[in-house]
Amino acid sequence: MKPAKKKNEFDKKFYIKWMVIAMTAIWAAIAAVWLSMHNWDTEESMKALAQAFTEQPAETEQQEQAPAEEESAVKEETAATEETEQPEEQPEEQPKEEAPAPAPKDATVYPEIDQLPSEPTVVNGILLANKQHPLPETYAPGENAEARAAFDSMAQAAAKDGLQLVAFSTYREFARQKQLYEGYVAKDGQEAADRYSARPGFSEHQTGLAFDIGEAGQEQHWASASFGDTAGGKWVKKNAHNYGFILRYPQGKEQITGYMHESWHFRYVGKEAATAIYNQNITLEEYLGI
Ligand code: DAL
Ligand code: ZN
Repeated sequence: MKPAKKKNEFDKKFYIKWMVIAMTAIWAAIAAVWLSMHNWDTEESMKALAQAFTEQPAETEQQEQAPAEEESAVKEETAATEETEQPEEQPEEQPKEEAPAPAPKDATVYPEIDQLPSEPTVVNGILLANKQHPLPETYAPGENAEARAAFDSMAQAAAKDGLQLVAFSTYREFARQKQLYEGYVAKDGQEAADRYSARPGFSEHQTGLAFDIGEAGQEQHWASASFGDTAGGKWVKKNAHNYGFILRYPQGKEQITGYMHESWHFRYVGKEAATAIYNQNITLEEYLGI
């Protein structure tokens, strides 16, 4: 019986030994899997373990876990600081306010400036003078020769149709514009004068490219809206672009050009720009995209 007892003891020890090894291996495997599920983060693992023991649903754990993982991933990828992350998150949390509609541009209003610029504004090769883009006081190029040649060609063509066009006012230097403007202000008041006369430094006539056009013998229509209703006024409006001129201040565009309609004031911009502006029925400002 002795050997049998020994054998039983041996079997029992053998069995216990392997049970211990197997249990240890199982617990080690469970621990390894558990820790791998939590990025080897002891704190997170302990937290998860505690939740498991308090029978928290698995979903809750995932919901809490996901943002933490995303946040750490973002931190690693961008190395972003707390300060730079905050502005990205804040707009989502704040109630969205209606952005105030931007005030429509009103080109009739002069900007508040202390002095005139030292250089004129040229956009896409086109010299620009309006209430938003003044000229230097010293800018005095005289009448533009190319514009004068273009006007003469136009006048010859109009003559063939029995119309004798004249350019009764073209280049005006700064001092002359000042004199004119102040006279209009004295006569009509500043608010009214500002609608049809440029302040000194702001007149297109100072560029040498503006031509006030009328008909010989029809002086009563010069610098008058009525010129637009005459045969000469209609002819120029229809044909000026073929010679590089545009009707600079069209009807209904005062908020864009800055001035009320002037049926007599034409501006030389060259044939290409003039034709595009005429065909699209737009202003110089719109053509230049300003
Ligand atoms: N009449 C135009 C606006 C000027 O004075 O230049
Ligand atoms: Zn004019």
